[in-house]
Amino acid sequence: MSVATDVMFDPASYDKVRLSLEEAETLPPWCYTSEVYYRAEVEHMFMKVWNLLGRADRIPNPGDFYTVKYVGVPIIFVRGNDGAVHAYSNSCRHRGTRIAVGEGNCKSFVCPYHGWAYGLDGALLAAPGMDKTANFDFADYGLVPLRLETWGGFLFVNFDDDAEPLSDYLGNLPVEMASYGYEDLVLTGHWSYDVACNWKLHIENAMEDYHVPWVHATSLDLKDVQFWNVPTEGNWFDMRECHDGTRALLEEDAHHGFPRISTLKGHAAEGTNFVCVAPSTCLASTTDCVWYIELHPQGPGSTKVNVGACFPKETVARPDFDERVQYYYKRWRRSVGEDNNISAVQQEGLFSPFVTPGRLSTLEPLVRSLGEWWIDWVIDRGAAAEIK
Ligand code: FES
Ligand SMILES: [Fe+2]
Repeated sequence: MSVATDVMFDPASYDKVRLSLEEAETLPPWCYTSEVYYRAEVEHMFMKVWNLLGRADRIPNPGDFYTVKYVGVPIIFVRGNDGAVHAYSNSCRHRGTRIAVGEGNCKSFVCPYHGWAYGLDGALLAAPGMDKTANFDFADYGLVPLRLETWGGFLFVNFDDDAEPLSDYLGNLPVEMASYGYEDLVLTGHWSYDVACNWKLHIENAMEDYHVPWVHATSLDLKDVQFWNVPTEGNWFDMRECHDGTRALLEEDAHHGFPRISTLKGHAAEGTNFVCVAPSTCLASTTDCVWYIELHPQGPGSTKVNVGACFPKETVARPDFDERVQYYYKRWRRSVGEDNNISAVQQEGLFSPFVTPGRLSTLEPLVRSLGEWWIDWVIDRGAAAEIK
């Protein structure tokens, strides 16, 4: 569907998204299909907010690194010799080539094009053939560092030097979720999928249970689960469920469960919190473990879906951990696979020129809340403010 940018960037085009849940419409279809709208999301939202991009315990030793490509930005995360994690733009300071690939351990990063080498602290260490170049100072050509802060062992990058500190951005999330002890959890598994869907479809799906009886008809069971949405302060949303046992196993595998996280208190002890850390990460915390789904947008209709699984240290230390954790991985591969599939099917339908905004069930309040949060950034504070 092609739509004029003056319509796309007019806040009035989104008035019906902001109505009460009973009256609201979904986001206009162009939000899921348009390259122009996607570029506005990147510029006005992703480049300004705190983006959750993995866990520090994925790279425990000096020289351990992993790379991501997030909204077009290639990034290296590396544990330095100083023991701290650093994030760098993964682009050579000579002629821009992407330097590191995948993940691993190294003493330095060497550009594959002409061999410029960078230390774990980002400093340029070697630049062969540059000795006759005038006024060339190695100190001016280190890797470009990116702003990085951590909460609960999660790494957050912000591309905007003027952005508020992470703790302000997260509001009361750290206090509300403190008893999970995220900083002491161990990342035991992570994997990813390339899905032909807009990133918003995947997180909208994660934040409503309306689809569960259809999409997860043979995998997830909602009987004896009560759920409600909890008001939050800061840039996060919470769908809370009350139930017995864990939500991280298929019903047929329930007898393979691990003991509960020993520190849980209050609401955390009573069920599961499906949190969206805005703009796009689903952080699911249940009684015995935590899993998260990071969405890395690659374009308007293409998303890398990254799943991470975390357990308490004492659970990981059990002799039967490796055997029993497979039942958890099985559940996540099954449910995330089903969500990937329906998101791609939804995207296929949204590409029709005949699609119009839809209406919401009262069973999907956070779909409305997320839409409102996104257009605040992309349109009201972003594109529309720029046009004024
Ligand atoms: S582009 Fe990296 S060394 Fe030339
Ligand atoms: Fe789902």
